[in-house]
Amino acid sequence: MTKNQKTEELRRILIVGSGGRENSIAWAISKNQSIEQIYVCPGNGGTTHFKKCVCLKPQSEDAKTIINECQRLEINLVIIGPEVPLAEGLANKMREEGLTVFGPGKDGAQLEASKEWAKELMIENNIPTAKYWSTGSKEEAIEILKRFNQPLVIKADGLAAGKGVTVCDTIEQSKEAIKDIFSGKFGSAGNKVILEEKIEGPEVSLFALCDGEKLIVLPPAQDHKRLLDGDNGPNTGGMGAYAPALLINEQDLKDLTDLVLIPTLKGLKKKKIEYIGVIYAGLMLTSSGPKVIEFNCRFGDPECQALMPLMGEEFASVLFACAKGNLENAPKLTFKSECSACIVAASKGYPEKPQKGDKIYINLESNSSLQVFHAGTTIDEFDNIITSGGRVLSIVAQGENFDKAFELAYSSFKGISYEGMHFRKDIGYQVRNI
Ligand code: AMP
Ligand code: GLY
Repeated sequence: MTKNQKTEELRRILIVGSGGRENSIAWAISKNQSIEQIYVCPGNGGTTHFKKCVCLKPQSEDAKTIINECQRLEINLVIIGPEVPLAEGLANKMREEGLTVFGPGKDGAQLEASKEWAKELMIENNIPTAKYWSTGSKEEAIEILKRFNQPLVIKADGLAAGKGVTVCDTIEQSKEAIKDIFSGKFGSAGNKVILEEKIEGPEVSLFALCDGEKLIVLPPAQDHKRLLDGDNGPNTGGMGAYAPALLINEQDLKDLTDLVLIPTLKGLKKKKIEYIGVIYAGLMLTSSGPKVIEFNCRFGDPECQALMPLMGEEFASVLFACAKGNLENAPKLTFKSECSACIVAASKGYPEKPQKGDKIYINLESNSSLQVFHAGTTIDEFDNIITSGGRVLSIVAQGENFDKAFELAYSSFKGISYEGMHFRKDIGYQVRNI
């Protein structure tokens, strides 16, 4: 670390991504007084609603063009939101050009980009996870299924936009899922298949900010992956979240840090990987203890939207310190002791065939405990905000308890409309009186 790096002030940030996660990160870091400008590349229809935030839409989204833009704009911190650019090595290319980046390199992103790689890391480091088998052959996969003689969870090894996992109730379904993977449904993500023992229990998302050596654990959050109330319907990217997840108390969080997060970081270090960014452990709390069902190399979406309003103003400085491998000298990250509720509104047809182009009407009174984070939205030629993706926006609210937070979030939907808007009515049922 040079002296210059230590004293550099955080002024200009670029966030890569266009989702609700990136919108909420932009909102959270905009609170930091020293920051002059936040560019979100490419951003969405809500980016400019926050002070200091602008969209950056370079002519091309290739790494070289974005790096040139970062240099031109004198960006001192890049935050990479989504997994795909991380898995493609955008962080490596940026670091090679001298940029300071929050987000792991291609090697570390394998935590998410290869389920087999992540499983091996878990086994090597005694991190509890479901039993599994992996193979690159359809015949062998079917053979394993026959041998086990029980429905198994079938996963494409690589990145499949959250669609590569099939939780099966019958052996026949597992067989079909194996065939789908090897038929090329997920492209090269399906070159290998993971067959996993089916486990049961509530799920919780655990996040740590890492600087390669140290980590800071954030309040746990709970996602709602199914489309419909009562956890029914197809899996989605996530229809709502809340934080902190009460399933885990402070002691549990310490235990899980020791059981999962620290061994993961140690395992990465053993492989000579300097992991800078978020470790996201998706856990299932089973009757025989917590087990990791997946790792991701970025913030969860929509968990991030629920978490950001709980972050203290020093959040941006902490990410900056992480990116510099210097958490030791970061200000202490504080968390508001409120309950935060996030409800995602989706577009007509989501998740199969999201309809785009519907005009969005927003008419909400300003309230410091309420945020609207945009995701699949854009601005049309007449300056209207229109839908442009499956998960359109989320309403996030805070309160002294979850009943109050959810009441504010749900009642705010009366101020938002677009054709085909739908959202779950039971987000947070685990912690509310409904
Ligand atoms: P993933 O993309 O790996 O998070 O999986 C998507 C969802 O599938 C998870 O959130 C779980 O609900 C479910 N799932 C994944 N692995 C298992 C498993 N081994 N047993 C039961 N459910 C699972
Ligand atoms: N909310 C689940 C995910 O971000 O993968």
